[in-house]
Amino acid sequence: MLNCKLALAPLAGYTDLPFRKVAKEYGADWTISEMINANALSHKDPKTLKMLTKNSNEDEYSVQIAANTPQVAKRAVEILNEYDFIDGIDLNVGCPVKKALKSGYGGYLLSDLKLLASIIQTIATTHKKKIFSVKMRIGFDTPNGVEIARVVEDNGAMLVSVHARTVKQLYKGHANYDEIARIKQAIQIPVIANGDITTYQKAQEVLAYTQADGLMIGRGAIGKPWIFQEIKTQRDIDIPQKQQIILSHLAAMYEWYGEYGVILFRKHLHTYSKGYKNAHEFRVKVNHITDYHLLAEEIERFFG
Ligand SMILES: Cc1cc2nc3c(=O)[nH]c(=O)nc-3n(C[C@H](O)[C@H](O)[C@H](O)COP(=O)(O)O)c2cc1C
Repeated sequence: MLNCKLALAPLAGYTDLPFRKVAKEYGADWTISEMINANALSHKDPKTLKMLTKNSNEDEYSVQIAANTPQVAKRAVEILNEYDFIDGIDLNVGCPVKKALKSGYGGYLLSDLKLLASIIQTIATTHKKKIFSVKMRIGFDTPNGVEIARVVEDNGAMLVSVHARTVKQLYKGHANYDEIARIKQAIQIPVIANGDITTYQKAQEVLAYTQADGLMIGRGAIGKPWIFQEIKTQRDIDIPQKQQIILSHLAAMYEWYGEYGVILFRKHLHTYSKGYKNAHEFRVKVNHITDYHLLAEEIERFFG
């Protein structure tokens, strides 16, 4: 058994409400929304407000915002304060995409620690939630994780998750667990380790190596939302259970998105079927199915 806080990383385009429901059923403790633009939120954009919704089984649920000024962050947090079902607010301090770097949010904030400090301080003094966390990378172009983590702690964040890569690294190279270990030594608030954890064995290694207070799993949960249970029990789940989990994920997609959920589910089926015999034929087939019941039958047959 491995006992530590396990978080499902925010993954835009993946960790929507149906995915979080399944991850939560299979061992995730802390779930976080996909990144939400604080500016869109501050204008109460209806699509953005819909993204705030949580499942009834999410009991430690944070909404992640991306903000480029203290003013925008404050307005977004005031809106989030109105929704009692949201347990926490998480600030994105790592998004490396061009748009973020150009607009001054996400990973950009690691190139301007003064601005980062003022945004964190504003959120810390505005929010009325149980938890305010920051999700950071270990630097902008070269690692300075300890310096960043101190800014995060000193300005009032209550927890930090660390994706152990710099912004410039994007997703290349290996996660730098030494940097997480250094951060853990340097600050008092809980540290959650993130990056390249894809098996329960690796989870145990990273936890022991970094001495972190918890682990956050992103890509390792795509096609394997039961990874949290595997980490907790330190063994593989039973194969027959997979079929049931995939079917319940599809059902949740259908419930949330309607017919469109069947089409959106294709990308998940591609990862679910990885490593299976005849996966290619299965993918070609499901790419043409738009009916929920037909797709459920194909899944039963293929994963049965
Ligand atoms: C498709 C995709 C979408 C992501 N979206 C977000 C996001 O919305 N917010 C965020 O903080 N990080 C986002 N990330 C980064 C992940 O949360 C995580 O930090 C990173 O993938 C490293 O962890 P992993 O190796 O467990 O995936 C995203 C990553 C991927 C691959």
